[in-house]
Amino acid sequence: MILTEESVQEIKKRAARYPHIKSAILPALTIAYRQVGHVDDEIYKEISSIIGIPKVEIAEAATFYTMFPKKPRGKYLLQVCNNISCALMGSDAMIKYLEEKLDIKLGETTDDKMFTMVGVECLGSCSTAPMIQVNMDYHENLNKEKVDKLIDDLRNNKD
Ligand code: FES
Repeated sequence: MILTEESVQEIKKRAARYPHIKSAILPALTIAYRQVGHVDDEIYKEISSIIGIPKVEIAEAATFYTMFPKKPRGKYLLQVCNNISCALMGSDAMIKYLEEKLDIKLGETTDDKMFTMVGVECLGSCSTAPMIQVNMDYHENLNKEKVDKLIDDLRNNKD
């Protein structure tokens, strides 16, 4: 069992709120993702047995959303928006800068397991482009100096 008793109880509690049990799939995946840091076949199986929905339906929901990484990743997941508004405001150059700074390409994880960087579609923050989502937080109106500070702050975060 990968999910802790606390996660299992939280999933059951959330599931009880919904008249249609399928509505509990995304909250359950979110709880699992927050605990484990990714979701995979074993997690789908555990959620399936907790809420009584076929595993394939859990997997279908999980694979539809980029917000649920499917394999272990670094402590910080940098989701770099490269859709039209961010692209017009320099996201290509920002990605290139981050690739050089972190010595990884999109989709890769740094050797010290601190950072995984992926490219994503619009995150709904176009008016503050270019932007990056780091785990659950948005970092907006980025430029080279702000990216440097962001990476330094994350590296120095001791928790
Ligand atoms: S295009 Fe980047 S947030 Fe919308």
